[in-house]
Amino acid sequence: MYSQIAGTGAHLPEKIVTNGDLERMMDTTDAWIRDRTGIERRHIAADHETTVDLAEPAARRAIEAAGVRPEDIDCIVFATSTPDYVFPNCGVLLQQRLGCRPGGPAFSVEAACSGFLYALAVADKFVRTSDSSCALVVGAETFSRITDWSDRSTAILFADGAGAVVLRPAERPGILSTHLHADGSYKDMLYCPGGVSRDTPAFASEERRKAITMTGNEVFKVAVTSLGKVVDEALAASRLDRSAIDWLVPHQANIRIIQATARKLDLPMERVIVTVQDHGNTSAASVPLALDAGVRDGRIKRGDLLLLEAFGGGVTWGAALVRY
Ligand code: COA
Repeated sequence: MYSQIAGTGAHLPEKIVTNGDLERMMDTTDAWIRDRTGIERRHIAADHETTVDLAEPAARRAIEAAGVRPEDIDCIVFATSTPDYVFPNCGVLLQQRLGCRPGGPAFSVEAACSGFLYALAVADKFVRTSDSSCALVVGAETFSRITDWSDRSTAILFADGAGAVVLRPAERPGILSTHLHADGSYKDMLYCPGGVSRDTPAFASEERRKAITMTGNEVFKVAVTSLGKVVDEALAASRLDRSAIDWLVPHQANIRIIQATARKLDLPMERVIVTVQDHGNTSAASVPLALDAGVRDGRIKRGDLLLLEAFGGGVTWGAALVRY
């Protein structure tokens, strides 16, 4: 028994913030942001919009594309680091919103920007072991809420959005393999303080700044190295040559990180789905947003071999080899 991506969906908040808008807010330039990151604009949630608000339309589109109904969904795995509540988790909230049949598991996964790959790997196991016949996998974030808008080194990067896929059982291999990794020794390189359990006077000084904190150039180096290794690992697991890949669907953090992985795979940029210019870094939403873009504009076709990869705070990283 295998699992297969039966449908994809995405949703972005209406408000767009361009590099020009950021020039007026902080000491930066459009030229610097484009040159160092590839980002030109990003979508930012309105004050009343939450992570689950963004996830709901993305999930509905994925469900429709899969040709199923909300009541067919029997498992929800929701990747986010910016949940609506401490609990209930976003998966449970989405189950109720969509009108899914109650009873199946619904839970969230937190692995920062690698979250969607972690969620996909978990849902794949549910479907392959017959615990689920229709799983919804979501990556959705409101990273604008944990961004320090006076910090030009991070505020230019992060953004909001949601993407989703529906996984169904299949006779032929769909998700060929998933590869997840973490290395906590890098925990201070990219993190967001302000955790619930540390919200006490004892941690007051260090937790004051509840915003993304990052040593950008270190993250860059570790990301390039880790992603280079994990894409090799994914290909080796299926004994496939890199020439077999039809599309690289990478985490959209920085065009230079994406280009480095494409070079490593000897893949021309025409075979890479790139949305970073329009979306910025939407963390767990970035891979399913890019996947949906490639599917809906007709580049990704049934039967294509896709290599999904992501890297995030923790640090965490992973890849999935998928026959779409
Ligand atoms: N606008 C203009 N200048 C900026 C700037 C901005 N928004 N942000 C930083 N700078 C300046 C720095 O102050 C520094 O100036 P100095 O040389 O006078 O000290 C200079 O640009 C270079 O800074 P540096 O941090 O070395 O730049 P960089 O080339 O490494 O680019 C990042 C910075 C953040 C774009 C890059 O390191 C990066 O993308 N890293 C990965 C981050 C990431 O993807 N995180 C999420 C992973 S999931």
